[in-house]
Amino acid sequence: MPGSNSQPHFSSSGPRRSFPFIQVKEVSKKFGRLEAVAGVSFTLPEGKIYGFVGSDGAGKTTLLRMIATMINPTSGTIHIGGMDVLKKRAQVKELLGYMPQRFGLYQDLTVAENLEFFMDIYGIRGEERKRRRKYYLGFSNLLPFLDRRAADLSGGMRQKLGLACVLVHEPKILILDEPTNGVDPVSRQEFWDMLLEMKRQGMTILVSTAYLDEGEKCDRLLLMHQAKILEEAGPEEIRANFPSLEEAMIHRIQEVDEVLANDEF
Ligand SMILES: Nc1ncnc2c1ncn2[C@@H]1O[C@H](COP(=O)(O)OP(=O)(O)OP(=O)(O)O)[C@@H](O)[C@H]1O
Ligand SMILES: [Mg+2]
Repeated sequence: MPGSNSQPHFSSSGPRRSFPFIQVKEVSKKFGRLEAVAGVSFTLPEGKIYGFVGSDGAGKTTLLRMIATMINPTSGTIHIGGMDVLKKRAQVKELLGYMPQRFGLYQDLTVAENLEFFMDIYGIRGEERKRRRKYYLGFSNLLPFLDRRAADLSGGMRQKLGLACVLVHEPKILILDEPTNGVDPVSRQEFWDMLLEMKRQGMTILVSTAYLDEGEKCDRLLLMHQAKILEEAGPEEIRANFPSLEEAMIHRIQEVDEVLANDEF
């Protein structure tokens, strides 16, 4: 992490990697009678990119929001860095950067003002503030557009600014919900170059996407359908015996739907 000033959140005694970095155990979320996430369990070691893929309404956003501590599970537990997210919410939040599906930039503020606003929220001051402003605006290729209002940015630039705003507090874990939805292929590529650079710097990234070329860039994919995780594996493993990742995923999803349909009779 570049010049991280965050406090050590892990016990310095004992080996840091003695626990899984993100551990989700039997997690469910109900909205009334609808079960959006149903008894999901997985562990994610740190420093990798995890792609959450699957059908619309599968529960990806709900699951990511629970990991990001925005909503509580109905049952089950989530530990991050060994900490229960419900019991240590403040410490866990320090580790997280979360970019929701509809990320709220301030439309009337300029590029620079948006970034400054987020640095105010995180209390980043002095020399560190100058360093991060330059680093993250440069990193997202936004330096030529400092005075442009967010409302006047292209979709791709808006998402890159959103990412810069989330990155300024230099989280250890980045959670991104369909960050490149509707963004052109070149900007998507640039956005992913930023993610790969963040991974090189040691960040753990959880990202949902509907684009399977992006799925190919992930270390592991979690394939979701009907509130459950059907498979957790590397993209090449999921793709095995199929011409493309897309076809492999459609096959897996249809298989499950057939079983569910047969169960109803
Ligand atoms: N706050 C809520 N209240 C009621 N139902 C909800 C709420 N949030 C999500 N749901 C429902 O839970 C299910 C899972 O939704 P979720 O948004 O997590 O899926 P998703 O995989 O992110 O879908 P998409 O690919 O369309 O973004 C859906 O049926 C959705 O309608
Ligand atoms: Mg979603």
